Amino acid sequence: MEKAIERVLVRQEEIQAAVSEMGAKISRDYAGKDPVFVGVLKGCFVFMADLMRHVTIDCSMDFMAVSSYSGTNSTGAVSINKDLSESIDGRHIILVEDILDSGVTLNYLKNYLQVREPASIAVATLLDKPARRKADIHADYSCFEIPDAFVVGYGLDYNERYRNLPYIGILKPEIYS
Ligand code: IMP
Ligand code: MG
Repeated sequence: MEKAIERVLVRQEEIQAAVSEMGAKISRDYAGKDPVFVGVLKGCFVFMADLMRHVTIDCSMDFMAVSSYSGTNSTGAVSINKDLSESIDGRHIILVEDILDSGVTLNYLKNYLQVREPASIAVATLLDKPARRKADIHADYSCFEIPDAFVVGYGLDYNERYRNLPYIGILKPEIYS
């Protein structure tokens, strides 16, 4: 598996430090607000599991599953494969994503959830790749801004592989060309 990695972009220790800092910041910002963390599956699962252990306030968690991607390029189309299981009426929502790339997925989700009249919607992402942004959306919380390279690990995949790497690595271009 490691042979497919060109180089490590973010080390395990750097990820842990940044995720812990984000958890502390969200805990300060949302104290007394009882937010709902909405994880966007599958990419969010490693990041969200770590992040939640650094959130020290009352909160709940829910998940959505969407597909927007095949290979290394966005198809532009978003489909909902699993919706929320609880009502979000009047609640403060924090969408948890692995990476904000074109922004098409999160922009779609934000609009999709807005209709249910939550009190607010914020975005928390592990990685932000601003160079490729198409939709008018920004991350309220982001751990790392990264260059325009295709990365895997810590939940992020290439065709369902490499999610189990404990760091963020740049995939060798020959793997997907
Ligand atoms: P967006 O709609 O273009 O912002 O894409 C969001 C989704 O694309 C993410 O949730 C990822 O699943 C996937 N994605 C975007 N860039 C990468 C990458 O570099 N590696 C792995 N998945 C990516
Ligand atoms: Mg994803």
